[in-house]
Amino acid sequence: MAFLPIVVMNLILLVITILLIIADRLLVNYGTCKITVEKDGEENSFEVQGGQPLLSYLIEAGYEINSSCGGRGTCGYCKVRVTEGGGQLLPTEEIFMSRAEKANNMRLACQCKVKNDIRIVIPNFLEIVREMVRNRKFDAKKRWLVTIK
Ligand code: FES
Repeated sequence: MAFLPIVVMNLILLVITILLIIADRLLVNYGTCKITVEKDGEENSFEVQGGQPLLSYLIEAGYEINSSCGGRGTCGYCKVRVTEGGGQLLPTEEIFMSRAEKANNMRLACQCKVKNDIRIVIPNFLEIVREMVRNRKFDAKKRWLVTIK
């Protein structure tokens, strides 16, 4: 009986959360957004109907983005550099970013919602790891930290 207020409160929060998600999906229209992707020196653009996370559009477009958590924002592997239109870094992303990455507008693609035209750079993680090995500075814990030159 002592848990009843907690259960009721959680149910109310759950209902509010579901209503907000439904309202966001049905009422908010971000229109057509252009995503410009720079990868390995090549630039490509495609248009999408806005409102979904950047990661889902990139995967749909055939880009290979590291993601071991399936877009839940818990692995920190889906880093991309947003050069235009990504908005603010979210608190859920901060723990995965070094100071340098924050300064260079790195974002987690799964947490970055496409609301307008956006321009991104997908880092070549394989080359980053190769360079670490070449320089004999490989650190398994830092393999996903991106150094922007
Ligand atoms: S896919 Fe895991 S944090 Fe983005």
